[in-house]
Amino acid sequence: MRHQGTSQTGVHAAVGRNAGCLTNRVAGAGCACTSTGAAAVQRTTGGARTVSGFALIDGELCAERVPLSAIADEFGTPCYVYSRAAIEQNYREYDTALAAVPHLVCYALKANSNLAVLDLLARLGSGFDIVSGGELARVIAAGGDARKAVFSGVGKTAAEMEAALEAGILCFNVESAAELEALDATAGQMGRRAPVSFRVNPDVDPQTHPYISTGLRESKFGVPIGDAPTLYRRAARLPHIAVRGIDIHIGSQITTLAPYREAIVKVIALVDQLAAEGIALAHVDLGGGLGIRYRDEATVELADYAAMITPLFSGRREQLLIEPGRRLVGAAGILLTRVIYLKPGPQRNFAIVDAAMNDLIRPALYDAWHPVDPVRPRHSPSREWQIVGPICESGDFLAHDRALSLEQGDLLAVGAAGAYGFVMSSNYNTRPRACEVLVDGDRAHAVRKRESVTMLFAGESLLP
Ligand SMILES: Cc1ncc(COP(=O)(O)O)c(C=O)c1O
Repeated sequence: MRHQGTSQTGVHAAVGRNAGCLTNRVAGAGCACTSTGAAAVQRTTGGARTVSGFALIDGELCAERVPLSAIADEFGTPCYVYSRAAIEQNYREYDTALAAVPHLVCYALKANSNLAVLDLLARLGSGFDIVSGGELARVIAAGGDARKAVFSGVGKTAAEMEAALEAGILCFNVESAAELEALDATAGQMGRRAPVSFRVNPDVDPQTHPYISTGLRESKFGVPIGDAPTLYRRAARLPHIAVRGIDIHIGSQITTLAPYREAIVKVIALVDQLAAEGIALAHVDLGGGLGIRYRDEATVELADYAAMITPLFSGRREQLLIEPGRRLVGAAGILLTRVIYLKPGPQRNFAIVDAAMNDLIRPALYDAWHPVDPVRPRHSPSREWQIVGPICESGDFLAHDRALSLEQGDLLAVGAAGAYGFVMSSNYNTRPRACEVLVDGDRAHAVRKRESVTMLFAGESLLP
């Protein structure tokens, strides 16, 4: 047992191993937490309320009530850290905001598919949006209800269709005529009828990064909205297809409501046209895509999102489905990393940290901006640093031009890394993937062990 902190700081962290769990006690008196609850609410002018779960307590950044330095000591770095309270609160906010209409939140687990995260959401009654047989297996392994799962993606294989039919999923979001025929054949071989929505492409511009815009005409996703009536008529005639709904997903990290409204109005007109032809749909799935604040984006409030949607759905018979990913988990996670070396230079100063583009690829891939905060802020003068990893690529950076006061060995928290962080990590440069820790109040649980180098080549072999 190790004790950390002093009565001077007011933070007493009693750290001990307990079946992968680290427990901290934070002294109530003298605790100068910047938030009042376990889940810190961050709101700055023009930004929507997002719950992160990370706050300074007596000069040290904490996940809920656990100091991040204690997590680094116990589990090492780089390490993803998530807040249970933040994830749960973000889910509840969605659920409450849409309470006026019958709805199902289907968490898009591509954003963060750790079993512990799925378990938390399953316990709250969440459905799931999956895009592979692997993600279906994760939902089932985490105790999620496959009957509340929708299956998106342009390239579902026959084996994936079979597994999803076997599990009794709620709906296949079909993205092409060829997929519809293949699904009918697979369901026929199994003596089943496959529940189907078409993902229609409403041709709206979500005004986000081109790599995460999916609702434009040139996108590989969905079927053109003009082709949808023909496809629905075909589906209604197929013996092993049950027409169930309609689906859109126009993009990700969307920070304005206008493109959603434009797409929804188009889709509702189509639903009414189909109903007039005798093809009645049971649900309308609006996809995910609501953005979070990474830097200074003026993001959409959930209340405004709900206020836009609910009048369009009130009095209608279709159930509303949504597929949020980033908005539920993005702000609820950080990537904890340690400065290995400081390398000041004539042009630029480099802080070389132990996390790299293989751990968090968003900066390199989308030029994404993530906040970088010292775990124990220093009061000495700051300099401008490039925060880079050890990978042999000039594109290996986590952040550019950050004014920080740093010393070798310091811990840094790369913020808003709970979505599209660990799930997009790789083993490039034979780097074992980071561990993942879920904090629940004053306890930190290892929810994924750090990989070892031998695990990385366990499936490889030499020539005979
Ligand atoms: C079909 C579908 N649904 C939902 C999502 C989740 O999006 P977000 O994380 O932006 O909410 C995605 C992400 O790209 C997606 O492709």
